Amino acid sequence: MSGASTAIRCGETRRVQRWTTHRRSVGLARDELRAALADWGLREIEEPAVLVLSELVTNAITHAYVRGRDIETSFCRGAQGVRLAVDDADERRHPKMRTPGEAGGRGLVLVEELSDRWGCSARRGVGKSVWAVITVPGGRWL
Ligand SMILES: Nc1ncnc2c1ncn2[C@@H]1O[C@H](COP(=O)(O)OP(=O)(O)OP(=O)(O)O)[C@@H](O)[C@H]1O
Ligand SMILES: [Mg+2]
Repeated sequence: MSGASTAIRCGETRRVQRWTTHRRSVGLARDELRAALADWGLREIEEPAVLVLSELVTNAITHAYVRGRDIETSFCRGAQGVRLAVDDADERRHPKMRTPGEAGGRGLVLVEELSDRWGCSARRGVGKSVWAVITVPGGRWL
């Protein structure tokens, strides 16, 4: 089904969901993140977190599409904010910051600006995990 999600693990501080690689998944994943942040009392970082998630999910769908494979989002509440990760099934291609231009390259610039740190790690199984951490202003402890 287009943009369908499956909840895999949901706990007090961690929500993991699987999504089809349909572009509708981007908006649906954003809605899930908004709900998670509201439950965790983290509405103040909703705007940057939702923007970062949008870019990471869009990238996974457009640059790491693997036929028959879903993507996975995970949101983890930390002591100072949230860690977002978007896992895809493509091990050959990796995120690489580009000079923004007509052909794009704005997504990761935005991620770099809005997150405290971001990166790309191996995931369990085939593929990779692109993650970003967004903390509350002032980096105070929650
Ligand atoms: N999950 C990913 N898997 C593989 N390659 C990726 C992934 N995310 C990003 N990339 C690579 O990094 C590049 C830069 O990503 P970025 O989001 O900045 O730009 P873009 O997606 O090309 O364009 P825009 O986001 O402005 O529409 C991409 O062009 C792509 O080559
Ligand atoms: Mg992009």
